[in-house]
Amino acid sequence: MEKLIIEGGVRLQGTISVNGSKNAALPILFAAILPEGTVRLSNVPDLRDIHTTLRLLEMLGCDCGHEDHRVEIRPGTLHPEASYDLVKTMRASVLCLGPLLARIGQARVALPGGCAIGARPVDQHLKGLELMGAHFELAEGYIIGQCRRLRGAHVTFDMPTVGGTENLLMAAVLADGETLLENVAREPEVVDLARFLRACGAQIEGEGSSCIRVRGVSSLHGTDYAVMPDRIEAGTFLAAAGITDGDLLLTNCPYEELEAVILKLNSMGMDIRQTPEGVRARCAHALRGTDVRTQPYPGFPTDMQAQIMALMCLAEGASMVEESIFENRFMHVQELARMGADIRISGHTAMVRGVDRLTGAPVMASDLRASASLVLAGLAAQGTTQVQRIYHLDRGYERIEDKLGAVGARIRRVPENA
Ligand code: UD1
Repeated sequence: MEKLIIEGGVRLQGTISVNGSKNAALPILFAAILPEGTVRLSNVPDLRDIHTTLRLLEMLGCDCGHEDHRVEIRPGTLHPEASYDLVKTMRASVLCLGPLLARIGQARVALPGGCAIGARPVDQHLKGLELMGAHFELAEGYIIGQCRRLRGAHVTFDMPTVGGTENLLMAAVLADGETLLENVAREPEVVDLARFLRACGAQIEGEGSSCIRVRGVSSLHGTDYAVMPDRIEAGTFLAAAGITDGDLLLTNCPYEELEAVILKLNSMGMDIRQTPEGVRARCAHALRGTDVRTQPYPGFPTDMQAQIMALMCLAEGASMVEESIFENRFMHVQELARMGADIRISGHTAMVRGVDRLTGAPVMASDLRASASLVLAGLAAQGTTQVQRIYHLDRGYERIEDKLGAVGARIRRVPENA
């Protein structure tokens, strides 16, 4: 295991190129089970979850190649089983349910693990697939699904779930007849998946709105596709500019998809704007507190909640954060407190009172975005911060120490016992 050592207090300055999106690449990789021809993807981030997915696809019978942010997936004879060994490390594995049922009418997928943020059930995925004609049983920790050919259905989600929408969308493209999905997630990653599927010949309308209509086709063909840039990685670097009073230019940065985050950061005193070269982020004023409520897209993303809280710790005045998507997503709070932050939690709400300074400390990463918030705090803290258990961070950020180091941060990766 490894840890990051950060010497805080350096203003970050320079240019960072944003990677392809992890959360868009994962469903698109699973969707590559659907076409009968070869899929070539570019702008795929080099991350552990991507490697896990490629191993899973190979276990399911695909032939995968991966080099320099490019992935090639060639179809083979599909097998229905996604084993616990792989699935336990990555919750998104459940996204193979829809494609497997659509292609071979059976799936045996271990119940997912992944980030320890709340219960995160998959009932909406199963309910929707059942309406399309699949039958499920749970046995020995596995979801076992079967169907003849899936048929079009009218599915209304109880809440807009990103993974649920993606699973059903992938199932519907090869189903018999028309599927209407209502109260779906509007996240840009769902839109990217729909675009990929359409490039393979799928008939989809309405992605990005709360209702998606799919007309099933009998087969899909392979395609070349570039994955969208990662709005959460980009948002984390915007926050890094804010917390270090720095000046960063982000290239390959999605701007519109980050609107809610940029509006909030600007209201805290940052000056983030689109320029011909990319998105430029710096501070116009000293940071001041604000209130944030996480919401489904286009609201403020839960995946940026921990990072903006790091900024609030050093902003003038009080801030409030309400987490409305996941329970248990305040695990960064006690670690930030170890660095001197003043945060109180009551239920789903955290009250942050700005302090003059944070001080470096050994801290423990508990989930992906919590880890990012500790790195941000470490960049601004006085003294040395050690972020332990960074395997969480590595699930979502490619070589974060190299990217931050290149714009001035004093940050290095060392073995955990060093
Ligand atoms: C995806 C993202 C994750 C992000 C989240 C919310 C990926 C790989 N992960 O996760 O980074 O934080 O969207 O933007 O894209 N729910 C149910 N039943 C279900 C499904 C979901 O109750 O069957 C609930 C969840 O517990 C949660 C809410 O719905 O409270 C939203 O979850 P969902 O949108 O499904 O998140 P993921 O797709 O797992």
